[in-house]
Amino acid sequence: LAEVPLVATRTFIQATRDAGYRSPAQAVAELVDNSIQAGAARVDIDVEAGPGGPQISVWDDGSGMDEDALAAALQFGGSSRFDDRGGMGRFGMGLPNSSLSQARRLEVYSWRGGAPIAAHIDVDEIVEGKASGLVPPEERPLPDGREPGADSGTLVVWRRCDRLADRRLPALRGELRDALGSMFRHFIWDGLELSISGERCEGVDPLLLHPKSPWRGASPFGEPVQLELRAPQGQERGLVTVRFSELPVHAWHDLTHAAKKRMGVTRGGGAYVVRARREIDRGWFFMGEKRKENYDDWWRVEIAFDPELDEAFGITNTKQHIRPTQWLIDALTPEIEGVARALNTRVRRAHETLKTRERFAVSEAAASKVESRMPPLEYPSRPQTSPLTERLTSLFPDVLQAPESPDVRIVEDDLGDAGLFEIVLASKRLVVVLNTAHPYYRRAYAPLAESTDPAAVERRASLELLLVSLARADAASDDREGARARHVAWAQTLAELVRT
Ligand SMILES: Nc1ncnc2c1ncn2[C@@H]1O[C@H](COP(=O)(O)OP(=O)(O)O)[C@@H](O)[C@H]1O
Ligand SMILES: [Mg+2]
Repeated sequence: LAEVPLVATRTFIQATRDAGYRSPAQAVAELVDNSIQAGAARVDIDVEAGPGGPQISVWDDGSGMDEDALAAALQFGGSSRFDDRGGMGRFGMGLPNSSLSQARRLEVYSWRGGAPIAAHIDVDEIVEGKASGLVPPEERPLPDGREPGADSGTLVVWRRCDRLADRRLPALRGELRDALGSMFRHFIWDGLELSISGERCEGVDPLLLHPKSPWRGASPFGEPVQLELRAPQGQERGLVTVRFSELPVHAWHDLTHAAKKRMGVTRGGGAYVVRARREIDRGWFFMGEKRKENYDDWWRVEIAFDPELDEAFGITNTKQHIRPTQWLIDALTPEIEGVARALNTRVRRAHETLKTRERFAVSEAAASKVESRMPPLEYPSRPQTSPLTERLTSLFPDVLQAPESPDVRIVEDDLGDAGLFEIVLASKRLVVVLNTAHPYYRRAYAPLAESTDPAAVERRASLELLLVSLARADAASDDREGARARHVAWAQTLAELVRT
């Protein structure tokens, strides 16, 4: 028998088009990877209409390729860095695979000082039997009247993107801008100029932390943790960096739904996996038994690793998923699940505090309105600090901030074995802290607080107003210590009475 070619080109070229890129952005990302690895400082992506579907081009000012490199670049498996773990590329599949997954024709132009050389793959030429292999690169000017624009560089053109034929171009450009801006954020913050159809692509931080991100305002939660991981068997070892961020519930909870979506607050929770500084996946990874809840939108974790750990993370050649091995799951879950649960609890508490803010709003407004007609209280001229004020500010960040005109704020907290409430006088503000630990609170107030029945809501409000007037009388007293002593005395009696 005669030897047969390993690959049946005509069918292979059609089958390989289903390489499984999740989105056009994931495919374009392969080209941006290559530009960055060629040392490009600028990458311009253009999306235009063309015959047979949109046309997407990626221009860079990187090192460019000589003839041998260009011939290898278009080859499936051709790479100048096969199995290199120093950067993003290593499989030698990205360029042809990603290109043909979207386009029926791939053209690559490259130049190093002199005239550009070009090579191409055309699915139709191969299917129709007009070509069976790669034609060696030859000198050719850039297409569509373009100029090189840099001493060295590369221009990749995808023509007849049949798989994108039904896409509206503005939407496609927007999708690429959002996805690539996030995927390549670390490079953009470090100075990479990435543009889509002339518009600069900003580095969007899904952790909402980075000062250069258009959407930011979260806080780091703890210090970044670096873990040196080693496979139980074999050579594999490498560094993983884990960092968490926490979104400001108080400041952002009442943003509009549209704003939350735009900023990536909603549906943004979970883990962001970054390989060789490029994001390759996002999802609910290394969380152990913990299920995702809506509260988990309010914190994020970034897990960054180097390609030395590709096998552990289960990277495939399209570089868009991770499928972690069990040993990696076992190594990372203890680091991540505990913090995930702690952050979930913090977010839940913050939301609960917000709910009580809403509950007290009506009584606060009524009491504040009356306040202007009363003889003014003796507000302290300088902020007073005590364990209680510190605790209150951590629970209710703005509670001690001076209002424009005198007002009343009601909050609640577990004050332990004290009276029914505490009073804090701040600048132009009377803060009444209801004690959730007092038996009367639990017996008489808490059931009303949970009810939405209008009669219960009214009784709750009148109870709040009674407590505010008692508190105000104590705050206005010439003898505040004496007033406090009387309060503790009656509150103790009241506790006894409701217990029986
Ligand atoms: N924009 C570019 N600038 C310079 N060289 C490139 C560029 N794109 C691709 N190459 C070359 O083509 C080769 C193949 O690219 P690719 O198929 O993405 O595989 P990989 O990146 O895994 O090596 C690369 O190794 C590189 O030598
Ligand atoms: Mg590549």
